[in-house]
This record gives sequence, structure tokens and C-alpha cells, in this order.
Amino acid sequence: MIKYIFKKTALSIILCSFSGLIFAQQKISPVKEIKYCASQADITLKNIPDAEKNQPRTIENGSKEWKYVDYRDWCSGFWSGILWNLYAATHDDKWKTAADKFTRELIPRATHSGFDHDLGFIMFNSFGNGYRLTKNPEYKEVILKSADSLAKLFNPKVGTILSWQGMAKWKGWPHNTIIDNMMNLELLFWASKNGGSHKLYDVAVTHAETTMKNHFRQDYSAYHVIVYDTATGKKIKGVTAQGYADNSMWARGQAWAIYGFTMCYRETKKTEFLDFAQNIADIYLKRLPEDKVPFYDFDDPAIPNVPKDASAAAISASALLELSEYVPDKIKASNYRNQAISTLASLSSAKYQSRDVNSAFLLHSTGNKPSNGEIDVSIIYADYYYLEALMRLEKLQNN
Ligand code: GLY
Repeated sequence: MIKYIFKKTALSIILCSFSGLIFAQQKISPVKEIKYCASQADITLKNIPDAEKNQPRTIENGSKEWKYVDYRDWCSGFWSGILWNLYAATHDDKWKTAADKFTRELIPRATHSGFDHDLGFIMFNSFGNGYRLTKNPEYKEVILKSADSLAKLFNPKVGTILSWQGMAKWKGWPHNTIIDNMMNLELLFWASKNGGSHKLYDVAVTHAETTMKNHFRQDYSAYHVIVYDTATGKKIKGVTAQGYADNSMWARGQAWAIYGFTMCYRETKKTEFLDFAQNIADIYLKRLPEDKVPFYDFDDPAIPNVPKDASAAAISASALLELSEYVPDKIKASNYRNQAISTLASLSSAKYQSRDVNSAFLLHSTGNKPSNGEIDVSIIYADYYYLEALMRLEKLQNN
């Protein structure tokens, strides 16, 4: 009997330590935090003005009021993405009705004359989530048009999609690509598999491969912008726009890269993307401050007296949860998952949640420190990826 009890206890200890490895540091209830997001979004929804500019983007520090944008803004797809995800989480038709309204307002963007590298952010978070949940054929048509518009910016000589237009004249950059562009490839992958041309897939893969080759330093930290020569297709230099310096690690750029390469692995199953995503994640995680929310740039010498960027934390948490599902090494995978859980626990604390300060989900994001734009604010893309990460965590726990 004693032998039996001993054996059983030993087995439970082994099982507990194994599951402890998988779900260590679990101090967060995604269900509770998703409910919090829904109650904040409800306040925002009730207060949106009946105006042309009605897509929430930012709440400045000290204010309670959203600043609104329309379909021309790169942030215009996040609000409908949030509404679709709340519909998925709650099955309440209130969110679906609102999501459909705010999504449709973006239709002019699909074929807008100023083709934009951010079409993935705008059209896939809105119409993409909408189609996933409703299979509405009108949404699909808009997504396919948007993908074709985005692909027009691809330069085959360079092998990447052009980011900021007008920079050739303004800065003397013949062709530039920002790391953020990795996120827009999801639109191309989806379109290529859902009725669009296979060329869209090739564009996305080539963009990711060229970025993998040129956009990173030896330690796998990302440059924000790479300037390319259009005649030779070669890299000229790496520079920053929103980070501290050309050679620094801009936090949100690194987070976009982790998310982007993880998504490229999901869409292609090419192991070089999976290996690369891990290297990018490892340097990001190694350099995080204790509360898992980075300063806007890891290399600003004025740290800790510089603003944080909660959006980078939310993006990386969502990406790390997905990465943890693909990494074959169980210990590495559980580390990514635990890091994501700790990040979400930190973001869900009184320090980072907006609560009654304003109706966003999170405080303390930074848009563009060098140009003094959106410093220490609530910002819609932080909220979008926070909710997405909570929903991914809930799904993982249920599985
Ligand atoms: N794509 C813009 C940003 O991350 O600020």
C-alpha cells in the first residue's frame, strides 16, 4: 500500500512538473480579460460620433476622447477587427452588426488610387476577420481586390513591396521597405489560396526571403527601414524612422518581425521562417525589462526615463503564442508560451489596463517617439493584438 501511494505521488509530481512547464506562471484568466475588453469596447461603441471620421485610433495621455480617422488611415481596420473578434468571443450579434458597418466603410480603400503597403492591416483585420466568421462573398471580393492593389507595389528587381511612397524625392531613397510590411503579407497569402493569383503567394514569399536576408543585424535585431537601389536591386543601408537610432532595436519593429515570420511559417511551412522567427524572438525576450513591456526602443540611452510601448508587448504576446504551437522543441515552445502569458498578465494589471482612465483596453503605447507623435497613449492596434492574444490563449487552454 505504502509502495502504491509512493508511486502515485511520484507520478503526480512528475505530471505536475510537466504541466507546470507547459503552463507555468499562469496568472491570468483570458475569459475575464476578454469580458473586460468587451465592456470597454461597449463604451467606445456607444460614444462614436456620427461623422465621416469615426474609426477610433488614439486616446492621448490625459484625455478620455478617442481621436478618429477614416479609411485613408493605416489604423482604420483595427476597430472593425476588434468588433469581429468580440463577435467571435461572445456570439452576440450586437458586435457583428457594428463590425459589418465599420468594415464596409473601408471599401473605398480596396482600389484607392494611392496604393498602400498597409492594405493588409486595413483590409485583412476588417474584411479578413469578417469573412472568416461570416463567409460573406462581398467581403471576399474586397479582400481579393485589396491583395491585387498591394501586390502592385512589389518591385521584382529588389524583391520587396515598396513601403513609403515619395521617399525617392524626399529622402533620396530609391526604394524603401519597412519591417512592418511583414504583417501585410498575410493578405497576399490568403488571397492566393482563396481565388486570387498564385503570383500573390510568390510575391509574399520573395518579400519575406529578401527581408530575412537584408533586414537584420547579426544578433537578429531588425532595422526599421531598408533602403534599396532600384537599378541593382541591392541593399544600400538600414535606417530608422520610429526608433531611437539607425542601429537600435525599435521595439514594435521587432514585434512585427516575430509575428510576421511566424505567420509566414504558418502559410508556407518553410522551416527557415520558423527558425528565423525563433532567433528574432530570442533577442527580443532576452532584452525585455522585468515587467515584459518594452520601452519604445531597447537602445535609447535614457532608459528607464523614456516611454514604454504596450503595443509591442501585445503584438509579441500574440505572436509568441502562435510560435509556441509550431516549435518542435517542447522546452523552447513552453518558454515562448510562458513568456506570452507573463506579458499578458503584465498588460492585464492596473499599470497597463485603461479601466476607468479611458475606454481603450490598454495604456502606455508609443507611436512615433522621434517625431513626438502619440507618446504614452492608448492606441487601437495595441488593443487589437491584446484581444487577439487573449483569445489565442483561451483557445490554447481549452485545447
Ligand atoms: N506601421 C506603423 C507602426 O508600427 O507604427
